[in-house]
Amino acid sequence: MSLEIKNLRISFRRANTLFEAVHGVSFSLGDGRALGIVGESGCGKTLSAMSVMRLLPSTAVITEGEIVYNGLDILSLSEKEMRMIRGNKIALIPQDPLTSLNPLYTIGDQLMEVILLHQEVTKKEAKEIALESLNMVKIPDASKRFDDYPYQFSGGMCQRVIIAMALASEPDLIIADEPTTALDVTVQAQIMELFSEIRQKRKTSLILITHDLGLISENVDDVAVMYAGAVVEYASVKELFLNPSHPYTKGLLGSLPRGGKERLKIIEGQPPQVGEIISGCRFHPRCEFVMDKCNKKYPERYFLSDNHSVNCFLYE
Ligand SMILES: Nc1ncnc2c1ncn2[C@@H]1O[C@H](COP(=O)(O)OP(=O)(O)O)[C@@H](O)[C@H]1O
Ligand SMILES: [Mg+2]
Repeated sequence: MSLEIKNLRISFRRANTLFEAVHGVSFSLGDGRALGIVGESGCGKTLSAMSVMRLLPSTAVITEGEIVYNGLDILSLSEKEMRMIRGNKIALIPQDPLTSLNPLYTIGDQLMEVILLHQEVTKKEAKEIALESLNMVKIPDASKRFDDYPYQFSGGMCQRVIIAMALASEPDLIIADEPTTALDVTVQAQIMELFSEIRQKRKTSLILITHDLGLISENVDDVAVMYAGAVVEYASVKELFLNPSHPYTKGLLGSLPRGGKERLKIIEGQPPQVGEIISGCRFHPRCEFVMDKCNKKYPERYFLSDNHSVNCFLYE
């Protein structure tokens, strides 16, 4: 598996005008690796991930960039070719997954439906695959629970079912968009543990999207920190926590609870809205290290080491 996103730009069409929401995002992911995409709500994480599946809202336009998956140019594939990839090679665990189970069908039926849609197997084989997937995500008594309805499952168990659906086709890449946001902290930890087991067993690559830096520290290899539609820092997870460099990343880490009585440090202000024009670095209005040039031009990518880059004039 290999994935490379190069200089991706996404705009929204509103009354014949294009408003840019994603301003040239690049990242890459190697075989069996896990990438975390982190940033405040609205910074373009979901849009960037959905472009890999080519499942953008109808008013969104990709104006520039390239997405190369296993040597295939995703943006120029036919819709038919794309359907072969979606749910088969690349599986998506959507944001707000708890609404993606149909309350009217048993979880067994829903799992079988996904399997029969994507794989050429008999119903009997589909049931075996479904049960295997439920066991893999550790649903206790999977064969007994096969005919239960979603309301008979807790939130965490529903999330396991969704992950089982994603796993059934043995994808080589899973994109999980805030997969644990709706769950309480202990269940979050169990789901994260599940992802790491799946990665070990199946060597599946993972893109894990979250607004919570704390969640990824033990679950990914590399991190792209996004702010207002752009990647502002890119590093191995170790590097990022040892040596956070962009003022925004420092702010995010400063706002992680560290226990004790220490007051949480919060980044002042709000991120810009889509369409709001900010000259220079888009973070400069909120930055405590702002310099004269920061509102004049956009800082390019400066490399602190091979696996650590930051878009900030402090490192020019
Ligand atoms: N369908 C849409 N129409 C117009 N703007 C949208 C639409 N979807 C997302 N946006 C805008 O694009 C920006 C990025 O959205 P998104 O990728 O969902 O952010 P994130 O996942 O980081 O919270 C947001 O500011 C949002 O308002
Ligand atoms: Mg999102």
